[in-house]
Amino acid sequence: LVSVSRSKNQIMKSKEKIEESVEYILQNKIKKCDLGIVIGTGLGGLVNTVNIIAEIPYSSIPHFPVSKMEMQNSRIIFGKINSREILIFDGRFHKYEDLNYFQITYPIYIMSRLGVNKLVLTNAAGGIDLKFKKGQLMIIKDHINLQGGSPLAEKENFGMGERFVDMSRPYSKDLIEKVVNIAIQSKIEIVLGVYACVLGPQLETSAEYKYLKIIGADAVGMSTVPEIIVANQLGIECMAISVITDLCDPENLEPINIKEIIDMGKKGEKQLLKILIKLLQDV
Ligand code: HPA
Repeated sequence: LVSVSRSKNQIMKSKEKIEESVEYILQNKIKKCDLGIVIGTGLGGLVNTVNIIAEIPYSSIPHFPVSKMEMQNSRIIFGKINSREILIFDGRFHKYEDLNYFQITYPIYIMSRLGVNKLVLTNAAGGIDLKFKKGQLMIIKDHINLQGGSPLAEKENFGMGERFVDMSRPYSKDLIEKVVNIAIQSKIEIVLGVYACVLGPQLETSAEYKYLKIIGADAVGMSTVPEIIVANQLGIECMAISVITDLCDPENLEPINIKEIIDMGKKGEKQLLKILIKLLQDV
């Protein structure tokens, strides 16, 4: 009985927090919108193409998680790209930032309450498939969660929806088809692949890259999967696109070059933006 009433308390707390955050966001000129985007590390250029109607820093929103890391400029943007209204979450949380899964997926609960039912996530990832080129784009067709945890296992998630969420089709076939068609029309090379999500923040060893290849991963990164799981729980149609920033060849592993990773992110970002801008007119 004690544990039942404790978890009921918890349900109230999570939902109340989300309601208070949403109330504040709506009071600050952000409007409800059906389409959302989460921008990955180093991929903030999309913001320059937006006609910004309103923006608020994450740090001003009640109950919004606060990262102890490099996220000073993180914000929610409501705006238009070629007359299409969109909500942009510019800044993402990672599990390695000393946050729990409820906190790192908080933007997804908020988006759902703001009316988002179509969601595009972007990230930077390492290429496990050595046929990839640096700077290339990969649509995530499926994932492997290697973080050792789930946002649905956090007590704050209890009562938020289905617990045994189906993961047979976590990525929208319709959105993937649209992006593939846009890429073909725009003559942008794009591939479909499996994304393995690790905790990080350290990069992988040679042995770990070998292992990732053997288990069927095409790319590896430290984000996106927790958000995809919650988006599926909340019934949001979603997709994710990775920019391949480095190649992870276990036989010739070079020491990590962060500058090169960021430069490659920028290279891939240009093509990613072309695709996203076209996608927005079509959803
Ligand atoms: N591993 C994990 N995350 C990454 C990598 C990588 O090699 N490259 C970019 N993000």
